Amino acid sequence: MDKNTLSITDNRTGKTYSVAVSDGTIRTMDLRQIKTDAEDFGLMGYDPAFMNTASCRSAITFIDGEKGILRYRGYPIEDLAETCSFLEVAYLILHGDLPTEDQLNEWADQVRHHTMLHETTKKFLEGFRYDAHPMAMFVSTVAALATVYPDVRKVLDPEVRARQIARLVGKVPTIAAYCYRHSLGYPYVYPDNDLSYTENFMNMLWKMVEPKYSANPALARALDVLFILHADHEQNCSANAMRAVGSSQADPFLATAAAAAALSGPLHGGANEEVLKMLDEIGSVANVPAYVEKVKAGKGKLMGFGHRVYKNYDPRARIIKWTADRVFEVTGRNPKLDIALELERIALQDEYFVTRKLYPNVDFYSGIIYKAMGFSPDMFTVLFAIPRTVGWLAQWQEMLTDPEQKIARPRQIYTGQETRKVVPLEKRVAHAVV
Ligand code: CMC
Repeated sequence: MDKNTLSITDNRTGKTYSVAVSDGTIRTMDLRQIKTDAEDFGLMGYDPAFMNTASCRSAITFIDGEKGILRYRGYPIEDLAETCSFLEVAYLILHGDLPTEDQLNEWADQVRHHTMLHETTKKFLEGFRYDAHPMAMFVSTVAALATVYPDVRKVLDPEVRARQIARLVGKVPTIAAYCYRHSLGYPYVYPDNDLSYTENFMNMLWKMVEPKYSANPALARALDVLFILHADHEQNCSANAMRAVGSSQADPFLATAAAAAALSGPLHGGANEEVLKMLDEIGSVANVPAYVEKVKAGKGKLMGFGHRVYKNYDPRARIIKWTADRVFEVTGRNPKLDIALELERIALQDEYFVTRKLYPNVDFYSGIIYKAMGFSPDMFTVLFAIPRTVGWLAQWQEMLTDPEQKIARPRQIYTGQETRKVVPLEKRVAHAVV
C-alpha cells in the first residue's frame, strides 16, 4: 500500500477509501467520492473560519507559529528588518528574490513615477466629512482609483498587472497622507521624488511651509522597519479577502479596497488602534492587574494579544520593541509604554494567557510608536495598510497565475427551512424577528 495515503472507512456503508496525502494535506475534493448511495452528494469538509484548511499553495511568506518564525521568500524577518529598505523587501515579496542595485533603482523609479494622485481624486477626498475615519477614507479612495485607469480591468495581462502593482504601491502612501491632512484640514502636499519611499511619505504628512522637507533619519528608518514588518503575513483575513475578491477577476484597486476593509476590523489590523484605546482606559501601571482580571472574567479582550497562527511570541513584536527604543530616543519616552510593559509582564505569567498561548502580537507595540511619532490612533490601521498593499498584490498575482485556482466559492451546510408555501400577506402570523 502507498504510504502517502490515508485510509478512510465509512462506518455508514462499511466501505474503505484511499486518499492521497501530500504536503501534509488531503484534498477535500477527494472526500466527495465517499457517498452513502448514488443520490448522496458526497462527503465535504466543514471548517468555519478556515481553522484547518489550506486554501492555496503559496511561495511568499512562511510562518511557524509554534516556534515564532516569520520569513518572506525564505529570508528571516529579523535579517530583512536589519539590513533592507522597505522597497527592497517589497521587490522581494512581489518578485521572489532580492533585487540587484540596478533592479532596485528601476523598481524605485517605477514606484516614484506613480506617486501622484489625479486631481479629481483630490477633489473626491474633499467630499469626506472633516471627522471621517481615515481608514474608511483610505478604503473608499483606493476603490475610487479604479475609475481613473481604464486599463485596470485587464487582470489577465501580465504587463497591465505590473503597471497596476507599481501604481498601487506608489499611490497608497499619497492616499494615506491625504486622508491624514484632510482630517487636520491642512492643504495636501505633493510627493517629492527626491526622497525615499518613507521619507516622501513623511514629507506628504508633515511638510508645512518649509521649501524642502527633511525627514529625521531615525524616524524614517523606524517607519521603514515598521513597513517591512507589516508587508505580508500569508493567508490572514485581508489576504484571504484579496484572493477571494480577486478570484472573480475584479480589478486590483477594488480587490485591494476589499482587503483594506478586512484589515480595518478590530480583530485584524484595527487592533493597533484598539490597543491605544485600551491603554488609555487602563490609565496607569497600578490599574493593570485589575484590567487583566476583567479580561479573564470574559469582559473584553486584551487587544494586541493572541494570534490564530502564532502560539509563541510574534517575532514582529520583538523587533517593534527594539524599534520603539530608537524612536523614543528622538521623541522622548511615551508613558504608555510602561503600562504596555506591565500588561505584557503580568499576562505572560498568568495561567489564563499561558495555557491559551496568548502572546503580544505586532499590534501591541506598533501603536505606541505611531503615537510617539505624532499620529492619532485612527491613523494606525492606515499605516498598516500601506505596506500590506505589497503583500496583498503579491497574493493576488500568485492567485491569478496559479492554474489550480478558480473563483473562490465555499460550500455550506444548509440549516434553513424545507420548502414552504407562501402564505398570503393578510393570513401571515408574526414571528420573532431574527
Ligand atoms: N484576550 C483575551 N483572551 C483571548 C484573546 C485576547 N486578546 N485572544 C484570544 N483569547 C482567548 C479566547 O477567548 C479563547 O478562550 P477560550 O478557549 O476560553 O474560549 C482562546 O483565547 C482562543 O481564542 P480564539 O478567539 O479561538 O482565537 P482565534 O485564533 O480565533 O483569534 C485573534 C485570534 C487574533 C482574533 C484573537 O486572539 C484576538 O481577538 N486578539 C485581539 C485582537 C488582536 O490583537 N488582533 C490582532 C492580530 S495580529 C495582527 C493581524 O494580523 O491582524
